[in-house]
Amino acid sequence: MANALGEMAAVHVDSSVLAAIAAGQGSPFYIADTEQLQSNLRALLESFRTYYPVTSVGYSYKTNYSPAFIRCAHNLGAYAEVVSRLELDLAIALGVPGSKIIFNGPIKTADDLTLALRAGARVNIDSLAEARLMAKIARSSASELSLGIRCNLGPGTPGSRFGVDLDTAEGKDVIGTLDACPNVRIRGLHCHYCGDRNASGYRDRIRHMIRLHATALGGRHVEFFDIGGGFSSRMSPELAAQFTAPPSSFHDYAAAIAQEMASTYGATGPELILEPGMGVLADTMTLVTRVQAVKRLQGRNLAVVDGSVFNIKPLRGSINLPIVVVQGCSNPGAKVTMPVDVVGHTCMEVDVLHTGYAGAIGEGDWVIIPNVGAYTNVLNAPFIRGTPAIVELRDRGNYGVLRRASTLDDLLATYRVDQ
Ligand SMILES: Cc1ncc(COP(=O)(O)O)c(C=O)c1O
Repeated sequence: MANALGEMAAVHVDSSVLAAIAAGQGSPFYIADTEQLQSNLRALLESFRTYYPVTSVGYSYKTNYSPAFIRCAHNLGAYAEVVSRLELDLAIALGVPGSKIIFNGPIKTADDLTLALRAGARVNIDSLAEARLMAKIARSSASELSLGIRCNLGPGTPGSRFGVDLDTAEGKDVIGTLDACPNVRIRGLHCHYCGDRNASGYRDRIRHMIRLHATALGGRHVEFFDIGGGFSSRMSPELAAQFTAPPSSFHDYAAAIAQEMASTYGATGPELILEPGMGVLADTMTLVTRVQAVKRLQGRNLAVVDGSVFNIKPLRGSINLPIVVVQGCSNPGAKVTMPVDVVGHTCMEVDVLHTGYAGAIGEGDWVIIPNVGAYTNVLNAPFIRGTPAIVELRDRGNYGVLRRASTLDDLLATYRVDQ
């Protein structure tokens, strides 16, 4: 299924297909596109491997938990990038071998670490407390334990609360604590920063990490540099125009990061790992929602839909996601005309999915919102109408269900209802 704005509505999906899915799965619903994820991962790796062949990718579990997406990424050789025990257990439950798991995150218990290390996962520690915990685990373990350190790059990662600044006394304490354990090996450096998605910032950060390898780690043998995620996704010009600077492309990132690795270490240096979330998942899902009412109030033209801003922007950023409207309204006279604000089903004034649509919208029309594949279904709460189904179009008119819509039983499943 093509995902470009407008293309999907015009070429691949007509109102009768949307109506059939809504009849079976309820409205709103997401349309997922696993082929798009494959194509994004391939394009990203291809760009990087042109400069630095030993580049790998990790699938950021937290960005989208759909097993269909996770499997698709693992089929292409991706690591599982997990940041909690829940996510670690999910990777293990999906059959991912420990050697293909990267365990990040600011909070890891002794139990979590022991499980991950025994499985052979790559653990990146985030604090001095975790280094001390690792040392304790190492003292009661006969095997060699390998790990990486998440770097906080100070002014290179402004405002970040994650990782360890290896230039400080605390950073030296972390290295000293780990080096004091005969069976612990520091195998790599990790850094994830999403506060600056511009490729030039990545060049600075990878240079900083390369310097830390030479200084704080004394140039010892390391196996990997993990630069995290934070990459921009491919997007329509209409969406790109809303950012203060043009979004960097996969090629821009590769030129900034991979070229730097190649010029320092040659073509066979330490593995370069990428952990894209948004960059490869944003354009893999589209929300389809139906207009239930139109009205004119206080000078505003409003289309009230059965979806919600929480289905498309659970953290409610300032981006006005572009929409496509597919005709489903049988009464053209009953439309509201531009500019139209598309508002959601919840009882909250902030529930606005799109402002200023430049067209006409009527009851029964479909509003299609692409670019909602990252952080939406993981942050969906059953708030007011439950969580939508996720379907994938198989071919014209047919679809598979990746997740059904939630039910009242799901809502009550974790509560006690007898008191
Ligand atoms: C450690 C780590 N890696 C990768 C990601 C993916 O980030 P993004 O979606 O910005 O690419 C995150 C997101 O929070 C993260 O915490």
